Amino acid sequence: MAGFSGKGGSEGGRNQKFDIKAYHGAKSWAGHVSKALALAYPDFTVTMQDRPEAISAAAKLSGLPRNLSFKPHDFFSPQTLHGADAYFLRHILHNWPQAEAVSILSALVPALKPGARVLVSEFLMPGAAQRGRSLLDDKLIRQIDLQMMDVYNSKERTAEDFAALFRMAGEKLRFVAKYQLPGDQESCIFEAVYDDDDGAP
Ligand SMILES: C[S@@+](CC[C@H](N)C(=O)[O-])C[C@H]1O[C@@H](n2cnc3c(N)ncnc32)[C@H](O)[C@@H]1O
Repeated sequence: MAGFSGKGGSEGGRNQKFDIKAYHGAKSWAGHVSKALALAYPDFTVTMQDRPEAISAAAKLSGLPRNLSFKPHDFFSPQTLHGADAYFLRHILHNWPQAEAVSILSALVPALKPGARVLVSEFLMPGAAQRGRSLLDDKLIRQIDLQMMDVYNSKERTAEDFAALFRMAGEKLRFVAKYQLPGDQESCIFEAVYDDDDGAP
């Protein structure tokens, strides 16, 4: 998980356009994505969170930018980083069943300020509206879906599944969009916004 905030308070962060290409292609694991985000957005402060052993490994990476810091955190515990512009959860939900996935998101909600973004990066399970695709096109995602069920009693999720997870985690956490790169049918970023009291993001 990473929390990041832009200069100029919440408005600065909210107006910053998120460039999915800056994140795509960054190596996975041990802080590579947080490092890539911090390098791509030098005006942002990025805090990487994970279990202590993952944090120790990430802190040893070379060429770490000054706007990146590290904080061990158990994602089932209440989020301690309050008031970030955005929280980025990458590949940490799909191996958890619904109750635990909702718990992970719920632990984040008390830390959210109005307008905060929650960005979840996961595979996208094609929904009913996309059934025209060939089974071969769907092979990778179906295989991973079966692995998630077999090993973790979990599953890959449709956009509607993610919208429901956000809703169950907090009534003010509203699914607003999903982002995909052309040609990459599996990786997807799901965006939710924590609404103001009057309902305006
Ligand atoms: C598939 S990896 C994804 C790592 C990283 N987010 C990425 O996208 O490269 C899942 C991560 O969840 C972390 N994790 C598992 N249980 C956790 C917990 N209770 N609290 C915090 N992190 C946890 C693991 O240490 C691991 O780094």
